[in-house]
Amino acid sequence: MNPARRLIIAVDGPAGSGKSTVAKLIAQRLNYLYVDTGAMYRALTLKALKVKADLEDEDGLGRLAKKTDIRLKHSDGSLKVYLDGEDVTAAIRTPEVTNSVRYIARAKPVRAHMVILQRDLGKDGGVVLEGRDIGTVVFPDADKKFYLDASFEVRVGRRYQELKEAHPGITEAEVRDDLKRRDESDINRSLAPLKKADDAISIDTTDLTIEGVVDKVLSFIKA
Ligand code: DC
Repeated sequence: MNPARRLIIAVDGPAGSGKSTVAKLIAQRLNYLYVDTGAMYRALTLKALKVKADLEDEDGLGRLAKKTDIRLKHSDGSLKVYLDGEDVTAAIRTPEVTNSVRYIARAKPVRAHMVILQRDLGKDGGVVLEGRDIGTVVFPDADKKFYLDASFEVRVGRRYQELKEAHPGITEAEVRDDLKRRDESDINRSLAPLKKADDAISIDTTDLTIEGVVDKVLSFIKA
C-alpha cells in the first residue's frame, strides 16, 4: 500500500458484530481518524429525549438535528462524544437512548443531515467510518468496505459483557430483546437499511478473536 494515500475505509454490520472495536483498532494501527456514526445517532437521540421531542415527527427531528452540535473528539486513544459542548460519551450508551435510537435513525431528514456531516468528516481520506450504511450510502465509493457479522447469540453475549459493567442491573434477556428489536428496525427500515454493499468484504467474527479480525481486515487493506 502506498502510505501517502490515505484511504476511506467503511465498516458496517449489526450491533455486537465487533465492528466498533475493530474499526477503532484499525484506525489506531493506520493512524487514521475513527468515526463512530452510531454515536452521532445516539447523541441526537439523547438530545431528543432531553427536549422531549416528538419521536414520530420526522421533520421536527430533522430541524432538531440541524440546530444540534455533535462532535467526536479523540483524546488519549479514546473517542469522546460531545453534544452541544457537553461530554455525553457515557450518557449515549444508556438503555433509554438505545431503546429510542431507532426513531432517530429512521427519520429521513435526520439521515440526510447525518450523511452530510459524515461525508465531511471523511472527505480527505485517512478515515475509518463505522456504522450501518457507510458502504452503501455515505461512501459508496469507499476504497475498502467491510461487512462484519456474527451469530445472534454471540452478538448478544458480547453486548451483555460490554453493558453489564456500566449497568449491573441489566439482564441477558433484556439485551437479547433489544438486539432483536434493533436488528429488525435496522434491517427493515426503508431508508438506508443495514445491508452488505455488493462490493464489501464479509467477515464472520463468530469464532474469531478481536485480534484475528483486525489482522484479517488489515491484510485486505494492505493487499
Ligand atoms: O452502532 P450503534 O449500536 O451505536 O448504533 C446505534 C443505532 O444507530 C443503531 O441501532 C442504528 C443506528 N445507526 C444507523 O442507523 N446508521 C448508522 N450509520 C449507524 C448507526
